[in-house]
Amino acid sequence: MTAFFCIFNLLMTRKILVTSALPYANGSIHLGHLVEYIQTDIWVRFQKMQGNEVHYVCADDTHGTPIMLRAEKEGITPEALIARVHGEHSADFRDFLVEFDNYYSTNSEENRELASTIYKALKANGKIATRTIEQYYDPVKNMFLPDRFIKGECPKCHAKDQYGDSCEVCGATYSPTELINPFSAVSGATPVRKETEHYFFKLSECADFLQAWTRDGHLQAEAANKMGEWFASGLSDWDMSRDAPYFGFEIPDAPGKYFYVWLDAPIGYMASFKNLCAKNGLDFDEYWKKGSTTELYHFIGKDILYFHALFWPATLENSGYRTPTNIYAHGFLTVNGEKMSKSRGTFITARSYLEQVKNPEYLRYYYAAKLNGTMEDIDLNLEDFVARVNSDLIGKYVNIASRTAGFITKRFDGKIRAAGANSVIDDMRNAAPMISECYENRDYGRALREIMSLADKANGYVAGAAPWDMAKKEGQEVNLHVVCSEALEMFRLLTLYLKPVLPHLAASVEAFLNTPPLHWAHTAQPLVDGHAINVYQHLATRIDPKQIEAMVEANKESLQPTPQAHSEQRHAAHQQNEAKADVAAAEKDWEPFISIDDFARVDLRIARIANAEHVEGAEKLLKLTLDIGEDKPRQVFAGIKSAYDPATLVGRLTVMVANLAPRKMKFGLSEGMVLAASDERGGPYILSPDVGAQPGMRVK
Ligand code: 2FM
Ligand code: ZN
Repeated sequence: MTAFFCIFNLLMTRKILVTSALPYANGSIHLGHLVEYIQTDIWVRFQKMQGNEVHYVCADDTHGTPIMLRAEKEGITPEALIARVHGEHSADFRDFLVEFDNYYSTNSEENRELASTIYKALKANGKIATRTIEQYYDPVKNMFLPDRFIKGECPKCHAKDQYGDSCEVCGATYSPTELINPFSAVSGATPVRKETEHYFFKLSECADFLQAWTRDGHLQAEAANKMGEWFASGLSDWDMSRDAPYFGFEIPDAPGKYFYVWLDAPIGYMASFKNLCAKNGLDFDEYWKKGSTTELYHFIGKDILYFHALFWPATLENSGYRTPTNIYAHGFLTVNGEKMSKSRGTFITARSYLEQVKNPEYLRYYYAAKLNGTMEDIDLNLEDFVARVNSDLIGKYVNIASRTAGFITKRFDGKIRAAGANSVIDDMRNAAPMISECYENRDYGRALREIMSLADKANGYVAGAAPWDMAKKEGQEVNLHVVCSEALEMFRLLTLYLKPVLPHLAASVEAFLNTPPLHWAHTAQPLVDGHAINVYQHLATRIDPKQIEAMVEANKESLQPTPQAHSEQRHAAHQQNEAKADVAAAEKDWEPFISIDDFARVDLRIARIANAEHVEGAEKLLKLTLDIGEDKPRQVFAGIKSAYDPATLVGRLTVMVANLAPRKMKFGLSEGMVLAASDERGGPYILSPDVGAQPGMRVK
């Protein structure tokens, strides 16, 4: 039987190459990122447990303007920056038990060579065109500016300080040339229009191939529908070059021109695998040559579907390589039902989770419980997280062993008595095909529901048999031995099913049960008569809600903008011809922005200046008495003496920050702040609202 299994398995062994999206090399891994790496890692571990040959590769995405500027800002070379971040990312993944077979870098020789080979092949196939385009140029920094590095006034709603591609206030999308009073977000200079020659990939010529490919079962249904919309609006050629200065690979026959980061990023999947091949003696061509019969899967977020479902297969198809077997896209993460937010402390880094909650498997379990193989967003509800982990993992699963193992050790010399006929064990074994189908389809939520309902049955069995009562009675030795042995067989099966999600816990159980590493085929190999187990050691601890509070506190950021301010999710809507979202995310890493939530925390009110007077001994201050419709007026000391005669201020309306913590000053308590404009051109000028505003009105 076993021999038959092995031969059968050997014949059926699938060869699978799996990737997760390459994280940018200028930011920390956070809980949003981890949805994807945990999702992929569970799938890979499941496939390996099935006996398939699986290679899971990834890398840091190291090129592009944001990384170049971040390094410059830190006063280090881009190479030093990406080396440091590579170390941080690798440690985060390792500590979340995300087990890559290779974690590499897109700034590698393999990637340079592959990018160059692919580019030359595309060119030889007539798929590259050059065109002169006009772009904004920063005359101070001497560089062309990507859209996201140009800011100005929104042409639609006139909100100030908006990005070159879309307005965060009214949601309008436009081209940077439409911005009013544009300025460079790098130097502040007014950008000029300048011509430059760019290299385009003729995506428009790939429409027929892509229409067929996207309908050929390589995408989730929702993704294929999205493609339909993109085809309907027509495919434009893809601008895949950037001008120096740029941190990336110079295009072979085009000095001063570089591959756009999104050209060499997915090639980074190949490069990482190539590097693995060199280390492990694998055959690169077997996985990448056209007509390959191996399987290739890319796990990604839904925001980068355009790159993976259109540019990437078109690039591969036209340069002599195979195309992906499937693209598996997942949704975004929300925390407590809302976008992750730094002010609320829900923009949680991987490292701070590990510092506070410690056990990575709890997050793996919770994400798995929420994932279902679609592109729907998933929510990490922190209260539910604590409740679910404590009740499922500790209350249901670990409980089975902790209540029965001691008897085997103390009463039966640590030896198992072979399980007899037991309907719960039968149910568990019979569930294997269904559970494996759920894992295969990435419907981990369903798999875990099934596993937990089996755990409920096991607990029901143990509770019904009550071994703790048997242990007290005479003549119940055999029954006690049977019940505890069967409970541990149930525990073994549950562990096997949970192993892709909880690999460390499973390893501890394997040590305790004294079994070799569990594989899927071991469902049919129960603990045998006389098998000796080891002494049960405590397997897992409940999460204390205080740990979660501490984690949220540790991630709360004040309103002070920091250079680390990070985009909370990658920009959701990718425009088809222009790869903006990637730049958006990475650029926000670099610029000191606050979120709309941060802004909403500032309570700005219309205030009537009820009184204004000089302050004896103060050089710059006036003492203002401000009416904002509260019972008691506020006293505020404002540094506006140089510009105002106090008498002229009385009765005027202005704007104040009403929720600033009161400050004790030399001259008395200041209970807020009035807003005033100033720079080297003059000021301070206090702000006045338009006619009609009333004291106490909220400014937003
Ligand atoms: O969106 C991102 O975070 C990109 N760094 C993903 C790149 S995936 C692949 F194409 F390299
Ligand atoms: Zn607008």
